[in-house]
Amino acid sequence: MNTSNPLSHPQVEQRVNELLARMTLEEKVGQMNQELPLAPPQLDAVRAGRIGSFITEVSALAGAGVDPSPAVRAEICNDLQRVAVTESRLGIPLLFGRDVIHGYRTIFPIPLGMAATWNPERVEQAASVAAMEAAAAGIKWTFAPMLDIARDPRWGRIAEGPGEDPFLGSALARAMVRGFQGDNLSRPDKLAACAKHYAGYGAAEGGRDYNFVDISMRTLRDVYLPPFRAAVDAGAATLMSGFHDYSGVPVAANRTLLTDVLREEWGFQGFVVSDWNAVHELVVHGIAADDGDAAVKATTAGVDMDMIAGAYVNQLAQQVRSGRLSIDVVDQAVRRILRVKLAAGLFDHPYTDPQRAARVILTPDHRALARQLAHESCVLLKNENNLLPLRPEGPFKRIAVFGPFAQARGELFGTWTLDGRAEDVTSIADALRETAPTPFEILCLSDKPDESLYHTLMGVDLAVLVVGEHPRRSGEAASVSNLELPAGQRQMIESIHDAGVPIVLIVLAGRPLAIKREVDLAHAVLYAWHPGVEGGYAVADLLFGRAVPSGRLPVTMPRATGQVPIYYNHRNTGRPAANRGDSSRYIDLPIGPLFPFGFGLSYTTFRYSDMRIVQNGRTVHISAQVTNTGAIAAVETAQLYVRDVVASLTRPVKELKGFCKLFLQPGETQTAHFTLSEEDLTFTGLDDRPVFEPGVFHVWVGAHSASGLQGTFEL
Ligand code: GLC
Repeated sequence: MNTSNPLSHPQVEQRVNELLARMTLEEKVGQMNQELPLAPPQLDAVRAGRIGSFITEVSALAGAGVDPSPAVRAEICNDLQRVAVTESRLGIPLLFGRDVIHGYRTIFPIPLGMAATWNPERVEQAASVAAMEAAAAGIKWTFAPMLDIARDPRWGRIAEGPGEDPFLGSALARAMVRGFQGDNLSRPDKLAACAKHYAGYGAAEGGRDYNFVDISMRTLRDVYLPPFRAAVDAGAATLMSGFHDYSGVPVAANRTLLTDVLREEWGFQGFVVSDWNAVHELVVHGIAADDGDAAVKATTAGVDMDMIAGAYVNQLAQQVRSGRLSIDVVDQAVRRILRVKLAAGLFDHPYTDPQRAARVILTPDHRALARQLAHESCVLLKNENNLLPLRPEGPFKRIAVFGPFAQARGELFGTWTLDGRAEDVTSIADALRETAPTPFEILCLSDKPDESLYHTLMGVDLAVLVVGEHPRRSGEAASVSNLELPAGQRQMIESIHDAGVPIVLIVLAGRPLAIKREVDLAHAVLYAWHPGVEGGYAVADLLFGRAVPSGRLPVTMPRATGQVPIYYNHRNTGRPAANRGDSSRYIDLPIGPLFPFGFGLSYTTFRYSDMRIVQNGRTVHISAQVTNTGAIAAVETAQLYVRDVVASLTRPVKELKGFCKLFLQPGETQTAHFTLSEEDLTFTGLDDRPVFEPGVFHVWVGAHSASGLQGTFEL
């Protein structure tokens, strides 16, 4: 038994066994039941032990701004908790859950934006702040991190995840679990994490949310499972199964994934909660005849808690009494849930100090961290003639700021924001005007271009256009068929360009958009995702040079919608796109993406030189010198990619296997060091088991997935 894992500590097991021995069947099933808090609250059900957890939201789309859930308050949770602890027969405390996806009241950039920081330590800090703030409101469980790798940006939930790469996704998974849970989940400022949506949800066919997923088990294991494995190895207390049908078996009833892989192979000790109504949806999928059948299939497969379908609480007891379901399956699920509640300290500290919130929520330090993350998440895609940063001595003094999101406040939060408040935000236009150094003059113009606007523009030196997509165009149930900017925005950009005014484009988006035309028309392009509560100031800092862009793309930027799915770590085919003659390409597009995975500009330039490869037994050390060849101190993210040249299966043309951030003064050189072992080079073999195959490997060290110094080694 791994005593370092709080979920499987001997004392925890002893308390679980003692409690389980005293529980009735109804009380056991009650622990497997999560409900929405109603008004008036379900106090009788809590007293009867029929509810084990509350999800403090009012709808599955609460995070999309469609149905903002009421604010959670510690007093409300304490009132419910007091009934459970003091008025139920066994006094088992409730577990309060909520989608704290990228911040509680201090809203950080959307997870895809945080992935663009390539800074796990910073992301861990953000998760730690989110936990501190949410826990002060009575929450003890967050339905995060969302770890779904996504290769198709038509899928709206790409906004919530770590991007297209399993290595970067795994690093962020570890960071967020550590940030949420810390090394002691029972601390009053920590939350139980919930890695979701296990597994493969991001591979929905056509990028259509909730659609079926038909990928090989090998691809699932090598691309979609690694971040979940990283989360489990980092001690994640819970996982959430997805809505989707994987290869004909919806994951909520998929024993191979939920038990064989998660429990038998990985040794996961926590519990699995279904997503929303997914247990009932087994009936809709067509693999369960009714809720009773669905409840049996889901528990048997390995879903321990039913989020809100009511299938467990209404069906399981009779399924056990009818002999259709073994009590052992129920006991196993209840054990897992009780383990988490014990590890979370709920039996010893079931209540939240209501005074904490005022001390810890949206503090200046938290805002400063949000601003730092927003700085690091923005990706500079274009900077013609080094137009940015705007310099007092430069040619641009009168600057017009407009566009659909120039004055936006709440929209800067992005999708899955439940507790952020628009009044906490300063818009990009206001931040520019407020912080512009002399001699800049900032003209905040209406976001409706009209004749007078163009007349006004005649007198300006530069136009800063804030464009992109509204948060409701990404996130759950927000798949799009067209990745271009929403209607009217391109036309606005074209008319400003035709008026001869240089353009700096700020793009707010929850996904990579197809903006080839707009990039061509602009002199500079800063991709800000949805940058969070401090996004306005962060963009202003970057434009005026108070911060230097260091973001790197966690996803590939397509030239056109028709190119997706498009991702860097693809297999080669027998006729690669770059082949002369017949090749795997579109005849109406240049080959390759608009911007590759890992790409991002700085206000300085970097040179890579002197790559070295040194083998020491079964370990390979790779290094390269990185020099800041410009005049501004900045951070570079050196990236290591590998290719397995010949193997028993076709292998990706490149795979990210390392990255390191170097802060370099002008003229300074540092060494980027990487180490590879056989374990780093394993993949899922023909027998669906991990395998390392000796042979020749190509390796690159560089600034992104389409560049770098190349070397070769044999292992
Ligand atoms: C939603 C989402 C899931 C979320 C849950 C609770 O449908 O799929 O990510 O955690 O319901 O809000």
